[in-house]
Amino acid sequence: MRLLQAASADKYATFPLLRRLLVDEALGHWPRYAIAGALMVVVAGATALSAYLLGTMINAAYVEKNYREIVALGLLAMAIFAAKASATYGSAVILSWVGNRIVADNQRRMFDKLLQEDIGFFADRHSSEFISRLTTGANAVSAVINLVITAVGRDLMSLIGLTFVMVTQDPVMSAGGLIIAPPALLVLRKMIRRVRGIARTQFTGGTQIVETMLEALQGLRMVKAFGLEDEMRRRLATSVRSVEHEANKMARVANRAAPMVEVLAGFTVALAIIYGGYRVIYTGATPGEFFSFLAAFLLAYEPAKRLARLNLDLNNSLVGVRILYEVIDSPAGEPADDDKPPLLLTTARLQFDDVCFSYHAGTPVLRGVSFTAERGEVIALVGASGGGKSTAFNLILRFYDVDSGRILIDGQNIADVSRRSLRHEIAFVGQIVHMFRGTIRDNIALGRIGASESEIVAAATAAHAHDFILGLPLGYDTPVGEHGLQLSGGQRQRIAIARALIKNAPIILLDEATASLDSESERMVQEAIGELCKGRTTLVIAHRLSTIMHADCILVVEDGQIVESGRHEELLRRGGRYASFYRLQLKERSSEREAPAIAFSG
Ligand SMILES: Nc1ncnc2c1ncn2[C@@H]1O[C@H](COP(=O)(O)OP(=O)(O)OP(=O)(O)O)[C@@H](O)[C@H]1O
Ligand SMILES: [Mg+2]
Repeated sequence: MRLLQAASADKYATFPLLRRLLVDEALGHWPRYAIAGALMVVVAGATALSAYLLGTMINAAYVEKNYREIVALGLLAMAIFAAKASATYGSAVILSWVGNRIVADNQRRMFDKLLQEDIGFFADRHSSEFISRLTTGANAVSAVINLVITAVGRDLMSLIGLTFVMVTQDPVMSAGGLIIAPPALLVLRKMIRRVRGIARTQFTGGTQIVETMLEALQGLRMVKAFGLEDEMRRRLATSVRSVEHEANKMARVANRAAPMVEVLAGFTVALAIIYGGYRVIYTGATPGEFFSFLAAFLLAYEPAKRLARLNLDLNNSLVGVRILYEVIDSPAGEPADDDKPPLLLTTARLQFDDVCFSYHAGTPVLRGVSFTAERGEVIALVGASGGGKSTAFNLILRFYDVDSGRILIDGQNIADVSRRSLRHEIAFVGQIVHMFRGTIRDNIALGRIGASESEIVAAATAAHAHDFILGLPLGYDTPVGEHGLQLSGGQRQRIAIARALIKNAPIILLDEATASLDSESERMVQEAIGELCKGRTTLVIAHRLSTIMHADCILVVEDGQIVESGRHEELLRRGGRYASFYRLQLKERSSEREAPAIAFSG
């Protein structure tokens, strides 16, 4: 997986990242964090107090033998634990609430960002990479913030409280407890580097798993038809194995410190018991002091361990944060340009003026294309596959910008107007029909948000889709599912035409809109399109020459250039490229009676 390159690596180092998280993401929620913090202080205080009280209780029982005091202390202990329980609950709920809000915010931000990327950005990427980034990254942000806040609010406070108890009970022993710290820190430092690397590999592997799954499911027909199940299984197995391997490695590395710290802690506890016993028996210290110290020491162990691991856990989660921020920070390929003047339409005259374009430098796809389409005209683009017809549409829609030359609409260079206003005036039916999640009605209505029921039915009727829609069990309420698989190719196409019709835009781009229709529906759709084109500017790319015979002008595009142009009869008379293509198709058609859409290939 290719990673988006960060402007500077420093920006993603631990501390700048943490500062950004705390300032940009957490600070806005400070009132809630303040409450959570206060509750954590209650938790820490209750923990320290319970250790302290244990000593008092033991003295009351064994030294003073005061039963009443013991009962009172027992009740107090109950109250302390109740307070601790409620405070723990409250702080956990608040932290989750804010955490969920931060996750949601980041998912929105990332999605916004992705919508601002240009089409080219996704050309060589798999969408699953972003699905992984979206989930992993957004969760990591809230995980890190909660980690820091819990560490400071609960663990550090508890540790301070408990240390206080230890020092008041036995300063000498408290100093002894510190001997664990230096070796533990040393080991942790070493581990952090490795954990970072492993976490990144884990993410990459996870992405590959999602990628393979999505790919297999999206292409399930191909997988089954070509018997690719084993190959897909093999691909998945490879990624799954590597993630499993990394996860195991992570488990080994991340937990390596635990046994050592545990042994040291046991050693310290043993020392404390021996020394504490000595003090009680020989120097007259109370057993309460001893137990109080021991309880504080044991209670301090967990928060201390968590704090020691904090850097490690942070670095692990920060990998996810980096993954998210890389996307959010990468410059938008198609930033909002609503500050540009809107396109002002008068006649919807579309003009290509010596347009040159290449997707990759060095391989020109359009080379000096010029033509004009007036209102009410149908301009047809025909030509061999790969000639650059769909590319011309990509440029009109400004999915890409021209390298040189201009595309003008009513005299305005489309590069100088806002994309939103430009696209608002264009209805587009693409070569690949895309269906969105939802019903057939929803899919048509997406052409113009807020379209009424009668408009939807009218558009479907005009696109000759109404009858087949009513024939479906649920009619307009039929869910189309991912990719509209339960519809035939021709049915999908007619839905797409209905979607374009309802938009009611003055400029129409049809990319092989009738490619997968039989002759009968083709004729009907042709009529619908004829209706649609009235008074508008229409560009249509067609592989079937029969569908464009009545076009006002036919442009034969070959290898990025217009090699012939004119009306059907004109071009036939001329006896050039178009004429030979036409004769070829005519022959194929008559020999097959009902030919499937014949590819126009020279
Ligand atoms: N996103 C892209 N990135 C890089 N190259 C591309 C991209 N899209 C198309 N091309 C290349 O540009 C050339 C023209 O493609 P285009 O899709 O415009 O052809 P077309 O005339 O529409 O062909 P067809 O009739 O098969 O639809 C092809 O050589 C193709 O490989
Ligand atoms: Mg094409």
